Amino acid sequence: MATGLAGKVAVVTGSSRGIGKGIAVALAREGAKVVVNGLDDDVEAEKTYREVTQNGGVALLCPGDMTDEAVAGDLFDRTERELGGIDILVNNVGGGKNIPFLDIDEKLWHEVLDLNLHTTFRCIRLVLPGMLERGFGRIINIASQLGVKGGFQLAHYATAKAGLIGLTRSLALEFAGSGVTVNAIAPGRIQTELRPGAARVSQEWLERKLREIPMSRFGRVEEVAATAVLIASSPSGDFYTGQTFHPNGGEVMP
Ligand SMILES: NC(=O)c1ccc[n+]([C@@H]2O[C@H](COP(=O)([O-])OP(=O)(O)OC[C@H]3O[C@@H](n4cnc5c(N)ncnc54)[C@H](OP(=O)(O)O)[C@@H]3O)[C@@H](O)[C@H]2O)c1
Repeated sequence: MATGLAGKVAVVTGSSRGIGKGIAVALAREGAKVVVNGLDDDVEAEKTYREVTQNGGVALLCPGDMTDEAVAGDLFDRTERELGGIDILVNNVGGGKNIPFLDIDEKLWHEVLDLNLHTTFRCIRLVLPGMLERGFGRIINIASQLGVKGGFQLAHYATAKAGLIGLTRSLALEFAGSGVTVNAIAPGRIQTELRPGAARVSQEWLERKLREIPMSRFGRVEEVAATAVLIASSPSGDFYTGQTFHPNGGEVMP
């Protein structure tokens, strides 16, 4: 596949671990210069940075809270100064915990919408003008299959992820033909590393969840990353825009 990623500048928000890390490492393997971001400048972020740079890859380690517009703006400015104009923006920061709907108060609702949807809106507004000026850009929004099928006790999260799909389609329409494509990935259940101290799930829970997936297994971070590489590629990815990709083992077939 002709990825054309060598020398491209990619920002992957929330890439110190999990899916974002997988995408950052995969883009770097194709020769992209990658910005590694996480909330903290911790050992995980440092490990990801080393993994990206170990085979001659170029990276910047830029920790910071991407929900803060000023922090995000500084990160993009630094990227442009040190690596060049941003070609690829992967909006990966997100998450949310199961809460019964009537226990989701307005504060929590706004926090989850802010983390999963508004942060992406703000990052795109900061990066898109430069992409349009240069006539090239790849925006990849990490949604979730729950944005398509809904999530049990996850009304806030599923609503935000559904919003990301609407945002993706709308921007794809508005900017088609500009050289900027906008796509989403809506992963199913992906095995991400548990943070130290995170609660372990029971065997019974695991077996029940696996029965809901036709392929009877969780997805791998590398499988989501391969989707991102395809979308980010040029010319191989040039004709995809407004699409939502579904690495999910057959759990949702929209
Ligand atoms: N895992 C799944 O099964 C799954 C399925 C569907 C969709 N998704 C979506 O995929 C994305 C990644 O999920 P994941 O499971 O890989 O998450 P994860 O393992 O919890 O990793 C989250 C990453 O985001 C960073 N982060 C969190 N809040 C941030 C903020 N405000 N500013 C900057 N960085 C921040 C974390 O940094 P620190 O290490 O510093 O905390 C970490 O690098 C999310 O949008 C999630 O909704 C995941």
